[in-house]
Amino acid sequence: MRSAMKPRFLLLALALLLGGVVAAAQAPAATPPLAAGQAGSAYVPNAACKTCHAEEFTQYQTSPHAKIPLSGVSVSSPAGGERAQPGCQSCHGPGKNHTENPGDPSTIFNFRTVTPAAVIGRCLSCHNTSHEQVNFASSVHARNGLKCTDCHSIHHPETEQVLLKLPQPQLCYSCHQARRADFEMPSHHKVNEGMVQCTDCHNPHGTPLPNQLRASDAADAICYTCHVDKRGPFVYEHEAVKVDGCLTCHNPHGSSNPHLLKVSNVNILCLQCHTASSFSGAPGTPSFHNQTAQYQSCLSCHTQIHGSNFSPVFFY
Ligand code: HEC
Ligand code: HEC
Ligand code: HEC
Ligand code: HEC
Ligand code: HEC
Ligand code: HEC
Ligand code: HEC
Ligand code: HEC
Ligand code: HEC
Ligand code: HEC
Repeated sequence: MRSAMKPRFLLLALALLLGGVVAAAQAPAATPPLAAGQAGSAYVPNAACKTCHAEEFTQYQTSPHAKIPLSGVSVSSPAGGERAQPGCQSCHGPGKNHTENPGDPSTIFNFRTVTPAAVIGRCLSCHNTSHEQVNFASSVHARNGLKCTDCHSIHHPETEQVLLKLPQPQLCYSCHQARRADFEMPSHHKVNEGMVQCTDCHNPHGTPLPNQLRASDAADAICYTCHVDKRGPFVYEHEAVKVDGCLTCHNPHGSSNPHLLKVSNVNILCLQCHTASSFSGAPGTPSFHNQTAQYQSCLSCHTQIHGSNFSPVFFY
């Protein structure tokens, strides 16, 4: 019987845990998770932590989290809510049991040993108010087991920039090795040069859109945030741009072809749609486009390929 009970119990525990995370993502009032040995513990003045953890205590004073003050802590029971118990213990939970029995690792909330869901629940107990992090629990990153502390370090950040473990884009490359090659292509968005960041297009905390994009790539909204000149509206729109979208012709990251183009030969790109037998709805090229050298370089005549206000065939 015991073996039949166990999975059910685990399922219940998981449901409670997930429930906790979802609740934390919605309501600031949700109680952050505690460590096993913190049951019945209470808050102590944060100065107590300094006695044994001077390094973390000193570093804390200059970190963004110093906005959670260490002084003036009330030492009453947790019933008053953790917000009334700030400082170290707002993240590590009540410290009374721990200071009395520091040898027992279960007496303090340790971000390195708890589950990813518990880390996320703890961080989001405060950071759920930001639009940036609000989708984290349902993000591709969270679903693949990532937690806040895979990218951020509270006490040992490698960069001043939002407490990151590594600066961008190295942080992203540390897991996304294949994407590093994208941005080493001859034509690429200048991410390695610092002109554009991964997070201009992606939100690493997740979005409701595919690929954790900040705006839809289906409607090209993500590209228009910077390339406003391509948005139009134009008197003569190129359906390939307006309907099929930028990614029909361009790679978003990098390409071995000029201008991030998907194919090396513009001629072939155009003729993917503009042939007599095409099902794309695009007209075939006129018969005088006989593919002699003169007509091969489509862009030498059709220069305004993204749309034009003057020429229905995009000459000017
Ligand atoms: C009497 C000394 C003492 C006091 C006071 C104390 N700690 Fe600790 N703490 C320890 C010891 C010893 C460990 C185990 C360290 C180890 O394993 O390297 C520890 C471990 C921890 C850990 C787990 C980290 C790890 O890597 O094991 C955290 C987090 C922590 N303490 C936070 C606090 C906080 C917050 C306070 C104040 C409420 C506090 N401690 C007060 C002695 C103390
Ligand atoms: C914003 C949440 C937060 C606050 C506030 C905080 N910590 Fe931590 N602490 C962490 C996290 C997360 C880790 C895991 C290591 C990391 O990410 O740097 C950690 C790790 C530790 C460790 C383990 C050793 C180490 O350096 O990694 C100790 C000890 C510790 N904290 C003590 C403290 C003390 C003392 C304070 C108050 C001065 C404090 N913490 C405030 C989140 C916090
Ligand atoms: C008790 C509430 C609380 C908890 C829990 C908490 N934070 Fe914070 N966090 C803050 C406050 C307050 C700031 C300072 C915000 C500001 O500067 O406006 C901050 C700042 C930050 C920043 C820097 C933002 C910036 O613009 O520089 C990062 C990154 C961050 N927190 C990550 C985390 C992570 C990761 C965790 C979990 C390990 C965590 N926080 C837990 C309250 C909290
Ligand atoms: C995959 C890496 C990654 C993970 C996981 C991650 N972050 Fe971040 N976080 C970043 C990066 C990169 C930035 C800088 C964003 C930018 O510059 O637009 C950032 C920025 C922030 C900021 C600064 C202000 C803001 O909103 O942009 C806060 C606060 C923050 N993260 C909290 C969290 C919390 C809380 C979690 C867990 C729920 C978390 N992060 C998980 C990479 C990550
Ligand atoms: C100019 C905007 C932009 C920038 C900058 C950008 N991306 Fe992307 N990324 C996209 C778009 C758009 C897609 C979706 C591609 C598709 O649908 O074919 C994507 C897809 C992805 C994917 C999922 C698909 C795949 O190829 O595995 C990953 C992972 C990714 N990007 C990582 C990164 C990393 C890491 C960086 C920074 C080093 C970065 N991106 C910079 C726009 C961008
Ligand atoms: C600790 C490892 C790790 C780090 C750091 C990391 N990622 Fe990821 N990322 C993953 C994993 C795992 C997946 C899911 C599997 C996959 O698609 O490769 C993923 C998926 C993605 C996806 C695809 C989402 C989808 O819908 O398929 C994008 C986009 C992405 N990450 C962007 C980033 C960006 C931008 C950064 C840097 C700010 C970053 N990641 C940092 C591990 C990481
Ligand atoms: C955060 C701003 C930003 C976003 C978002 C953005 N771009 Fe760019 N893009 C740039 C900048 C800056 C340059 C010029 C870089 C340079 O000088 O090489 C550029 C250059 C280009 C080029 C020309 C490259 C060349 O070698 O001529 C193409 C094509 C391009 N982007 C397509 C796109 C597409 C498609 C999207 C949407 C997936 C997009 N961009 C989203 C900033 C952005
Ligand atoms: C039908 C294919 C096609 C589509 C769709 C397309 N482009 Fe292009 N794009 C091109 C070609 C071909 C070039 C090279 C133009 C040249 O050499 O003069 C180019 C060049 C560019 C350039 C660099 C030169 C310039 O004009 O600034 C940018 C930036 C750019 N495209 C952005 C976009 C964006 C953003 C979208 C989506 C709104 C988009 N493109 C959709 C074919 C396309
Ligand atoms: C993804 C398919 C696709 C690609 C690739 C494409 N086009 Fe188009 N193009 C269309 C469609 C669809 C129309 C609209 C036809 C209509 O309005 O009847 C169009 C319209 C045109 C027109 C105006 C024709 C007219 O009668 O209004 C010209 C000129 C043109 N494209 C040239 C090009 C060139 C040059 C390229 C290569 C840089 C190219 N196209 C790439 C699909 C495409
Ligand atoms: C030497 C200049 C030149 C070059 C190069 C050229 N075209 Fe044209 N294109 C024209 C002219 C002229 C027209 C007719 C304009 C009109 O009807 O007003 C035209 C019309 C078109 C049309 C509209 C057909 C229709 O029935 O509406 C398409 C599509 C087209 N070209 C595609 C292409 C493609 C694809 C290439 C490259 C393979 C290309 N063109 C190269 C000059 C050129």
